[in-house]
Amino acid sequence: MLRVLLATNPATAAEFAPHLRTAFTAAGLAVDLSGDHPPGAVDYIVYAPDSGLTDFAPFTRCKAVLGLWAGVERIVGNPTLTQPLCRMVDPGLRDGMVEYVCGHVLRHHLGMDAHIHGLAGRWDQRAAPLARSRPVGILGAGELGGACARALLALGFPVTVWSRSGTPVAGAIAEAGEDGLARTLGRAQVLVLLLPLTPATENLLDARRLALLPPGAAIINAGRGALIDDDALLAALDGGTLGHATLDVFRVEPLPPGHRFWHHRRVTVTPHIAADTRPDTASAVIAENIRRAQAGTALLHLVDRGLGY
Ligand code: NDP
Ligand code: OXD
Repeated sequence: MLRVLLATNPATAAEFAPHLRTAFTAAGLAVDLSGDHPPGAVDYIVYAPDSGLTDFAPFTRCKAVLGLWAGVERIVGNPTLTQPLCRMVDPGLRDGMVEYVCGHVLRHHLGMDAHIHGLAGRWDQRAAPLARSRPVGILGAGELGGACARALLALGFPVTVWSRSGTPVAGAIAEAGEDGLARTLGRAQVLVLLLPLTPATENLLDARRLALLPPGAAIINAGRGALIDDDALLAALDGGTLGHATLDVFRVEPLPPGHRFWHHRRVTVTPHIAADTRPDTASAVIAENIRRAQAGTALLHLVDRGLGY
Protein backbone atom coordinates (compact mmCIF):
# COMPACT_ATOMS: atom_id res chain seq x y z
CA MET A 1 0.00 0.00 0.00
CA LEU A 2 1.46 3.36 -1.09
CA ARG A 3 1.15 6.29 1.30
CA VAL A 4 0.32 9.53 -0.50
CA LEU A 5 0.24 12.78 1.46
CA LEU A 6 -2.36 15.29 0.27
CA ALA A 7 -0.63 18.57 1.19
CA THR A 8 -3.17 21.24 0.27
CA ASN A 9 -5.50 23.58 2.07
CA PRO A 10 -8.51 21.79 3.64
CA ALA A 11 -11.01 22.92 0.98
CA THR A 12 -8.82 21.69 -1.87
CA ALA A 13 -8.21 18.42 -0.02
CA ALA A 14 -11.94 17.83 0.37
CA GLU A 15 -12.52 18.60 -3.30
CA PHE A 16 -9.65 16.51 -4.68
CA ALA A 17 -9.61 13.45 -2.38
CA PRO A 18 -12.53 11.57 -3.99
CA HIS A 19 -11.22 12.24 -7.51
CA LEU A 20 -7.71 11.14 -6.56
CA ARG A 21 -9.02 7.92 -4.99
CA THR A 22 -11.00 7.15 -8.16
CA ALA A 23 -7.98 7.90 -10.34
CA PHE A 24 -5.64 5.73 -8.22
CA THR A 25 -8.04 2.80 -8.49
CA ALA A 26 -8.39 3.31 -12.25
CA ALA A 27 -4.58 3.29 -12.55
CA GLY A 28 -4.36 0.03 -10.57
CA LEU A 29 -2.66 1.68 -7.58
CA ALA A 30 -3.34 0.69 -3.96
CA VAL A 31 -3.05 4.00 -2.10
CA ASP A 32 -3.66 5.22 1.42
CA LEU A 33 -4.38 8.92 0.78
CA SER A 34 -4.25 11.18 3.82
CA GLY A 35 -3.42 14.70 4.92
CA ASP A 36 -1.44 13.55 7.97
CA HIS A 37 0.81 10.58 7.27
CA PRO A 38 4.02 10.61 9.34
CA PRO A 39 6.66 12.21 7.04
CA GLY A 40 9.02 9.21 7.17
CA ALA A 41 6.28 6.93 5.80
CA VAL A 42 5.23 9.03 2.80
CA ASP A 43 5.86 7.65 -0.73
CA TYR A 44 4.52 10.63 -2.73
CA ILE A 45 3.33 14.15 -1.94
CA VAL A 46 0.48 15.82 -3.82
CA TYR A 47 1.33 19.44 -3.18
CA ALA A 48 -0.19 22.91 -3.37
CA PRO A 49 1.71 26.02 -2.24
CA ASP A 50 -1.10 27.10 0.12
CA SER A 51 -0.64 23.92 2.20
CA GLY A 52 1.96 25.57 4.43
CA LEU A 53 4.38 22.68 3.77
CA THR A 54 7.88 24.12 3.39
CA ASP A 55 10.24 21.54 4.91
CA PHE A 56 10.63 18.48 2.69
CA ALA A 57 13.70 17.11 4.52
CA PRO A 58 11.74 14.73 6.82
CA PHE A 59 10.14 12.99 3.80
CA THR A 60 13.06 10.61 3.48
CA ARG A 61 11.34 7.89 1.39
CA CYS A 62 9.28 10.24 -0.78
CA LYS A 63 9.90 9.49 -4.48
CA ALA A 64 8.33 12.61 -6.00
CA VAL A 65 6.46 15.81 -5.19
CA LEU A 66 3.53 16.21 -7.56
CA GLY A 67 2.29 19.79 -7.81
CA LEU A 68 -1.36 20.72 -8.29
CA TRP A 69 -0.33 24.11 -9.69
CA ALA A 70 1.23 24.84 -13.06
CA GLY A 71 3.45 27.56 -11.62
CA VAL A 72 6.25 26.38 -9.30
CA GLU A 73 8.00 29.60 -8.29
CA ARG A 74 7.04 29.12 -4.63
CA ILE A 75 8.68 25.70 -4.33
CA VAL A 76 11.33 25.33 -7.03
CA GLY A 77 14.09 27.07 -5.05
CA ASN A 78 13.28 25.35 -1.74
CA PRO A 79 16.65 24.02 -0.46
CA THR A 80 14.99 21.19 1.51
CA LEU A 81 13.44 19.75 -1.65
CA THR A 82 15.69 17.01 -2.97
CA GLN A 83 12.92 14.88 -4.47
CA PRO A 84 11.92 15.20 -8.16
CA LEU A 85 9.31 17.93 -8.63
CA CYS A 86 6.53 17.67 -11.23
CA ARG A 87 4.26 20.57 -12.09
CA MET A 88 0.63 20.35 -13.15
CA VAL A 89 -0.17 20.01 -16.83
CA ASP A 90 -3.92 19.43 -16.88
CA PRO A 91 -6.19 19.42 -19.91
CA GLY A 92 -8.96 21.03 -17.82
CA LEU A 93 -6.67 23.85 -16.68
CA ARG A 94 -5.48 24.34 -20.26
CA ASP A 95 -9.02 24.56 -21.62
CA GLY A 96 -9.94 27.07 -18.93
CA MET A 97 -6.98 29.26 -19.84
CA VAL A 98 -7.88 29.14 -23.53
CA GLU A 99 -11.42 30.30 -22.71
CA TYR A 100 -10.17 33.10 -20.43
CA VAL A 101 -7.59 34.39 -22.89
CA CYS A 102 -9.86 34.19 -25.94
CA GLY A 103 -12.66 35.91 -24.03
CA HIS A 104 -10.47 38.81 -22.95
CA VAL A 105 -8.73 39.14 -26.32
CA LEU A 106 -12.15 39.31 -28.01
CA ARG A 107 -13.34 41.89 -25.47
CA HIS A 108 -10.51 44.23 -26.42
CA HIS A 109 -10.63 43.37 -30.11
CA LEU A 110 -14.37 44.05 -30.41
CA GLY A 111 -14.28 47.11 -28.15
CA MET A 112 -17.07 45.56 -26.10
CA ASP A 113 -16.62 47.97 -23.18
CA ALA A 114 -18.03 50.88 -25.15
CA HIS A 115 -21.32 49.05 -25.63
CA ILE A 116 -21.45 47.49 -22.17
CA HIS A 117 -20.92 50.87 -20.50
CA GLY A 118 -23.35 52.53 -22.93
CA LEU A 119 -22.96 54.89 -25.86
CA ALA A 120 -25.24 57.51 -24.26
CA GLY A 121 -27.56 57.83 -27.22
CA ARG A 122 -24.82 57.96 -29.86
CA TRP A 123 -25.60 55.73 -32.85
CA ASP A 124 -21.96 54.93 -33.68
CA GLN A 125 -21.93 52.21 -36.28
CA ARG A 126 -18.17 51.82 -36.60
CA ALA A 127 -17.48 48.08 -36.53
CA ALA A 128 -14.33 46.48 -35.21
CA PRO A 129 -11.82 45.32 -37.81
CA LEU A 130 -11.67 41.61 -38.51
CA ALA A 131 -9.42 39.51 -36.30
CA ARG A 132 -6.95 39.11 -39.14
CA SER A 133 -6.11 42.82 -38.78
CA ARG A 134 -5.41 42.57 -35.03
CA PRO A 135 -1.96 41.09 -34.29
CA VAL A 136 -1.71 39.32 -30.94
CA GLY A 137 1.55 38.59 -29.12
CA ILE A 138 1.90 35.82 -26.57
CA LEU A 139 4.88 35.70 -24.21
CA GLY A 140 5.30 31.99 -23.47
CA ALA A 141 4.75 29.18 -25.95
CA GLY A 142 4.38 26.30 -23.50
CA GLU A 143 1.36 24.20 -22.54
CA LEU A 144 -0.81 27.27 -22.01
CA GLY A 145 0.72 29.84 -24.38
CA GLY A 146 0.77 27.29 -27.19
CA ALA A 147 -2.86 26.27 -26.65
CA CYS A 148 -4.00 29.91 -26.54
CA ALA A 149 -2.02 30.66 -29.70
CA ARG A 150 -3.74 27.81 -31.55
CA ALA A 151 -7.20 28.98 -30.43
CA LEU A 152 -6.52 32.61 -31.40
CA LEU A 153 -5.14 31.51 -34.77
CA ALA A 154 -8.34 29.52 -35.34
CA LEU A 155 -10.31 32.74 -34.73
CA GLY A 156 -8.22 34.47 -37.38
CA PHE A 157 -5.79 36.54 -35.30
CA PRO A 158 -2.20 36.80 -36.57
CA VAL A 159 -0.21 35.46 -33.59
CA THR A 160 3.42 35.86 -32.58
CA VAL A 161 4.72 33.66 -29.78
CA TRP A 162 7.89 34.53 -27.89
CA SER A 163 9.75 32.00 -25.76
CA ARG A 164 13.20 31.20 -24.37
CA SER A 165 14.05 28.73 -27.11
CA GLY A 166 11.78 29.94 -29.91
CA THR A 167 9.32 27.04 -29.48
CA PRO A 168 7.28 26.82 -32.68
CA VAL A 169 3.47 26.88 -32.87
CA ALA A 170 2.09 25.93 -36.27
CA GLY A 171 0.71 29.01 -38.01
CA ALA A 172 2.26 31.51 -35.60
CA ILE A 173 5.47 33.53 -35.90
CA ALA A 174 7.91 32.18 -33.31
CA GLU A 175 10.41 34.56 -31.74
CA ALA A 176 13.16 34.34 -29.13
CA GLY A 177 15.81 36.56 -27.61
CA GLU A 178 15.82 40.29 -26.97
CA ASP A 179 15.39 41.24 -30.63
CA GLY A 180 12.55 38.75 -30.97
CA LEU A 181 10.90 40.23 -27.89
CA ALA A 182 11.15 43.72 -29.37
CA ARG A 183 9.54 42.49 -32.61
CA THR A 184 6.80 40.67 -30.69
CA LEU A 185 5.98 43.73 -28.59
CA GLY A 186 6.18 46.06 -31.57
CA ARG A 187 3.37 44.33 -33.42
CA ALA A 188 1.15 43.19 -30.49
CA GLN A 189 -2.07 45.18 -30.35
CA VAL A 190 -3.03 42.68 -27.67
CA LEU A 191 -0.28 41.14 -25.56
CA VAL A 192 -0.88 37.99 -23.49
CA LEU A 193 1.57 36.99 -20.76
CA LEU A 194 1.82 33.26 -20.08
CA LEU A 195 5.36 32.96 -18.79
CA PRO A 196 6.50 31.32 -15.56
CA LEU A 197 8.03 33.56 -12.92
CA THR A 198 11.78 32.89 -12.77
CA PRO A 199 14.83 35.09 -12.16
CA ALA A 200 15.00 35.53 -15.96
CA THR A 201 11.38 36.70 -16.35
CA GLU A 202 10.90 38.87 -13.25
CA ASN A 203 10.08 42.48 -14.24
CA LEU A 204 10.40 41.47 -17.90
CA LEU A 205 7.87 44.10 -18.92
CA ASP A 206 9.58 47.23 -17.65
CA ALA A 207 9.09 50.81 -18.81
CA ARG A 208 11.45 50.43 -21.78
CA ARG A 209 9.75 47.29 -23.10
CA LEU A 210 6.22 48.57 -22.40
CA ALA A 211 7.08 51.56 -24.59
CA LEU A 212 7.65 49.19 -27.54
CA LEU A 213 3.96 48.22 -27.67
CA PRO A 214 1.79 49.96 -30.28
CA PRO A 215 -0.15 52.97 -28.89
CA GLY A 216 -3.38 51.88 -27.22
CA ALA A 217 -2.36 48.19 -26.91
CA ALA A 218 -4.03 45.97 -24.32
CA ILE A 219 -2.17 43.63 -21.98
CA ILE A 220 -3.62 40.44 -20.52
CA ASN A 221 -1.46 39.03 -17.72
CA ALA A 222 -2.44 35.49 -16.75
CA GLY A 223 1.14 34.39 -15.96
CA ARG A 224 2.44 35.93 -12.74
CA GLY A 225 2.18 39.46 -11.32
CA ALA A 226 5.92 40.04 -10.99
CA LEU A 227 6.45 39.62 -14.74
CA ILE A 228 5.46 43.29 -15.01
CA ASP A 229 6.91 46.33 -13.26
CA ASP A 230 3.73 47.66 -11.60
CA ASP A 231 4.87 51.29 -11.46
CA ALA A 232 5.85 51.26 -15.12
CA LEU A 233 2.52 49.69 -16.01
CA LEU A 234 0.55 52.32 -14.09
CA ALA A 235 2.61 55.10 -15.67
CA ALA A 236 1.90 53.75 -19.18
CA LEU A 237 -1.83 53.46 -18.37
CA ASP A 238 -1.98 56.90 -16.76
CA GLY A 239 -0.16 58.42 -19.72
CA GLY A 240 -2.59 56.76 -22.13
CA THR A 241 0.11 55.04 -24.20
CA LEU A 242 -1.27 51.72 -23.04
CA GLY A 243 -5.00 51.20 -23.59
CA HIS A 244 -5.88 48.62 -20.96
CA ALA A 245 -4.48 45.95 -18.65
CA THR A 246 -6.46 42.88 -17.70
CA LEU A 247 -4.65 41.41 -14.71
CA ASP A 248 -5.36 38.01 -13.17
CA VAL A 249 -2.16 37.67 -11.13
CA PHE A 250 -0.42 40.01 -8.71
CA ARG A 251 2.75 40.38 -6.65
CA VAL A 252 0.64 40.13 -3.50
CA GLU A 253 -2.45 37.91 -3.58
CA PRO A 254 -5.17 38.59 -2.61
CA LEU A 255 -4.61 42.03 -4.16
CA PRO A 256 -4.73 44.44 -1.15
CA PRO A 257 -8.02 46.41 -0.94
CA GLY A 258 -6.37 49.81 -1.35
CA HIS A 259 -4.31 48.89 -4.42
CA ARG A 260 -4.63 51.29 -7.37
CA PHE A 261 -5.34 48.42 -9.76
CA TRP A 262 -8.78 47.92 -8.17
CA HIS A 263 -10.01 51.37 -9.15
CA HIS A 264 -8.03 52.27 -12.27
CA ARG A 265 -10.37 52.87 -15.19
CA ARG A 266 -7.92 51.19 -17.57
CA VAL A 267 -7.41 48.09 -15.42
CA THR A 268 -9.57 45.00 -15.08
CA VAL A 269 -8.79 42.82 -12.07
CA THR A 270 -9.70 39.14 -11.98
CA PRO A 271 -8.76 37.24 -8.79
CA HIS A 272 -6.36 34.55 -10.10
CA ILE A 273 -9.18 32.64 -11.73
CA ALA A 274 -7.95 32.51 -15.32
CA ALA A 275 -7.55 28.76 -15.11
CA ASP A 276 -8.14 26.33 -12.28
CA THR A 277 -6.70 22.86 -11.91
CA ARG A 278 -9.75 20.62 -12.45
CA PRO A 279 -10.00 17.73 -9.94
CA ASP A 280 -11.13 15.03 -12.38
CA THR A 281 -8.60 15.58 -15.16
CA ALA A 282 -5.76 16.59 -12.81
CA SER A 283 -6.22 13.51 -10.61
CA ALA A 284 -5.69 11.31 -13.65
CA VAL A 285 -2.40 13.13 -14.33
CA ILE A 286 -1.23 12.62 -10.71
CA ALA A 287 -2.18 8.92 -10.79
CA GLU A 288 -0.38 8.41 -14.09
CA ASN A 289 2.80 9.92 -12.67
CA ILE A 290 2.70 7.68 -9.59
CA ARG A 291 2.08 4.68 -11.85
CA ARG A 292 5.11 5.67 -13.90
CA ALA A 293 7.34 6.16 -10.89
CA GLN A 294 6.32 2.77 -9.52
CA ALA A 295 7.03 1.18 -12.90
CA GLY A 296 10.42 2.88 -13.10
CA THR A 297 9.53 4.95 -16.19
CA ALA A 298 10.19 8.66 -16.65
CA LEU A 299 7.96 11.12 -14.80
CA LEU A 300 5.82 13.52 -16.81
CA HIS A 301 6.15 17.32 -16.46
CA LEU A 302 9.38 17.30 -14.47
CA VAL A 303 10.52 20.77 -13.45
CA ASP A 304 14.01 21.84 -14.52
CA ARG A 305 15.42 23.29 -11.28
CA GLY A 306 18.11 25.19 -13.13
CA LEU A 307 15.65 26.99 -15.40
CA GLY A 308 13.07 27.35 -12.63
CA TYR A 309 10.08 26.01 -14.59
P1 NDP B 1 5.27 25.91 -19.63
O1 NDP B 1 6.44 25.56 -18.79
O2 NDP B 1 4.61 24.83 -20.41
O3 NDP B 1 5.65 27.07 -20.66
C1 NDP B 1 6.45 28.14 -20.28
C2 NDP B 1 6.80 28.95 -21.51
O4 NDP B 1 7.53 30.10 -21.07
C3 NDP B 1 7.70 28.19 -22.48
O5 NDP B 1 7.37 28.51 -23.80
C4 NDP B 1 9.08 28.73 -22.12
O6 NDP B 1 10.02 28.72 -23.18
C5 NDP B 1 8.75 30.17 -21.79
N1 NDP B 1 9.81 30.76 -20.98
C6 NDP B 1 10.29 30.37 -19.78
N2 NDP B 1 11.30 31.17 -19.38
C7 NDP B 1 11.47 32.08 -20.36
C8 NDP B 1 12.38 33.16 -20.56
N3 NDP B 1 13.31 33.46 -19.66
N4 NDP B 1 12.27 33.89 -21.69
C9 NDP B 1 11.33 33.58 -22.62
N5 NDP B 1 10.44 32.56 -22.51
C10 NDP B 1 10.52 31.82 -21.38
O7 NDP B 1 4.22 26.62 -18.65
P2 NDP B 1 2.64 26.71 -18.80
O8 NDP B 1 2.33 27.18 -20.17
O9 NDP B 1 2.00 25.46 -18.33
O10 NDP B 1 2.28 27.84 -17.71
C11 NDP B 1 2.82 29.14 -17.82
C12 NDP B 1 2.54 29.91 -16.55
O11 NDP B 1 1.16 30.26 -16.47
C13 NDP B 1 2.77 29.17 -15.23
O12 NDP B 1 4.14 29.11 -14.90
C14 NDP B 1 1.99 30.00 -14.26
O13 NDP B 1 2.79 31.04 -13.75
C15 NDP B 1 0.88 30.59 -15.11
N6 NDP B 1 -0.44 30.04 -14.76
C16 NDP B 1 -1.42 30.90 -14.37
C17 NDP B 1 -2.68 30.45 -14.07
C18 NDP B 1 -3.77 31.39 -13.72
O14 NDP B 1 -4.84 30.95 -13.32
N7 NDP B 1 -3.57 32.69 -13.86
C19 NDP B 1 -3.00 29.02 -14.11
C20 NDP B 1 -1.90 28.21 -14.55
C21 NDP B 1 -0.68 28.71 -14.86
P3 NDP B 1 10.46 27.34 -23.88
O15 NDP B 1 9.30 26.96 -24.78
O16 NDP B 1 11.69 27.69 -24.63
O17 NDP B 1 10.68 26.34 -22.77
C1 OXD C 1 -1.15 28.46 -11.25
C2 OXD C 1 -2.19 27.48 -11.13
O1 OXD C 1 0.01 28.08 -11.41
O2 OXD C 1 -3.29 27.85 -10.68
O3 OXD C 1 -1.49 29.66 -11.20
O4 OXD C 1 -1.99 26.32 -11.51
